[in-house]
Amino acid sequence: MESAVKYDAIVIGAGPGGYPAGIRLGQAGKKVLVIEKEKIGGVCLNVGCIPSKSIIQAAKTYEKASHADKMGISVAGVKLDVGKMMTWKDEVVTKLTTGVKGLLKAAGAEVMVGEARFETANRLVVKTADGDKRVEAGSIIIASGSRPIAIPGFAFDGKRILDSTGGLALREVPGRMIVIGGGYIGLELGIAWAKLGSKVAVVEATAGLLPGNDPELVDVVARKIKKLGIEVHLEAKALGWEEAGGKARVKIATKAGEQTLDADTVLVCVGRRPNSEDLGLDKIGVTVERGFVKVDKKQRTNVPGVYAIGDVAGQPMLAHKATREGEVAAEVICGHKAEFDVRCIPAVIFVDPEIATAGLSEVEAKAQGLAVKVGKFPFLALGRAISTTETDGFCKIIADARTDQVLGVGIVGSGATDLISEAALAIEMGALLRDLSLTIHPHPTLGEVMMETAHVALGEPLHIPRR
Ligand code: NAI
Repeated sequence: MESAVKYDAIVIGAGPGGYPAGIRLGQAGKKVLVIEKEKIGGVCLNVGCIPSKSIIQAAKTYEKASHADKMGISVAGVKLDVGKMMTWKDEVVTKLTTGVKGLLKAAGAEVMVGEARFETANRLVVKTADGDKRVEAGSIIIASGSRPIAIPGFAFDGKRILDSTGGLALREVPGRMIVIGGGYIGLELGIAWAKLGSKVAVVEATAGLLPGNDPELVDVVARKIKKLGIEVHLEAKALGWEEAGGKARVKIATKAGEQTLDADTVLVCVGRRPNSEDLGLDKIGVTVERGFVKVDKKQRTNVPGVYAIGDVAGQPMLAHKATREGEVAAEVICGHKAEFDVRCIPAVIFVDPEIATAGLSEVEAKAQGLAVKVGKFPFLALGRAISTTETDGFCKIIADARTDQVLGVGIVGSGATDLISEAALAIEMGALLRDLSLTIHPHPTLGEVMMETAHVALGEPLHIPRR
């Protein structure tokens, strides 16, 4: 092998954590190399956020086209061409990944396709199509992401048993689909395929869907799930499966005993695991706890010069958290006084209706011993929501009862995933309920929900009666 090529900084992984770090380092004039073993853009752009949102949008459009008669629009013979839908989804992905490649290039960051492994704390061996290459740098950022967890008895085979990647690349609508795991991915994809015509059953181990989220928000989604004809098995565990009569026969254990469910496709979405095993981290002494690389607020590991960001560096496994961590690591490497110091990391779930949260939930605030004021406002009372026919759901603001400072916001409803950014800004800026209620929100918009909910929390509702 040739001697090592020297860089100022190297980023392992070009997902939503790694590529922004590469861009920032390049913009700062550093000689930076981004190493990616699969595709630029990582899971998020190629087999996660972006393709899933494309399919969810297609499913929503299909559902809307089939049910527009209420508005006086009758669309006869709405047809679905799954192949064409997948081509369109692939085009969306390509547009974005091409954009990222362009951004890296414009910033002066070099890209290498290959699999990196630490040889020493500042030297990597990269397995590439042209053989092994050695590269070194004083600063190396691990941004290797995560992968779907498999469960015993359900080895992914790319045919019957699929992970989320497979669930985003189906060539036809399965007659019946079983989704194991009623979390983020399971419900986002389960709902989309149900809208596209599949008969879906969800098998969830805990007592509720989307565990960890405010049950009050989740209830609204559970009602829609029922309306879509999705069968939900709670406190149920999938035990195994066998091929029977041209279907997958899945055995599940429920409180009522064992049952079998038949399906054409089984989608396993039971969580993700950090990619920390094959990097040679043990060799250089990086501390890894339960698979996650341990980092401080500056994204530094215990080994000087080695940083970690994104899914591999801890929960929550969200693209936007990875991006900020990537920016922080790049700034720290450039000698700036940066830290990952945020009051909230908003979360968005593209179920129907959408759920979005920022800051503390009511339960979390109370668990911290805080006295809280809670305001709730239904979408049903918003002119804009009525005119779009999407009136399910509500907004909930949790504020400190003594100071009126906004502590958390939860929204379930149409547009929730876009609306939550105002909540995140309010929480970051330490806004009070009055800041939200006195800010003029344009009418008629869904955004008014935040102002109206703040009015309610202050005990002065405008568009719903005072209790
Ligand atoms: P998840 O943690 O959200 O949900 C997994 C679900 O599977 C849980 O409800 C769990 O109780 C259940 N489960 C675990 N083992 C089971 C078993 N043997 N049988 C039945 N149920 C079982 O994980 P998911 O959906 O795979 O997503 C992984 C991560 O990806 C999320 O936590 C999130 O961080 C990220 N993500 C974010 C999205 C977004 O921001 N919109 C969308 C999709 C994923």
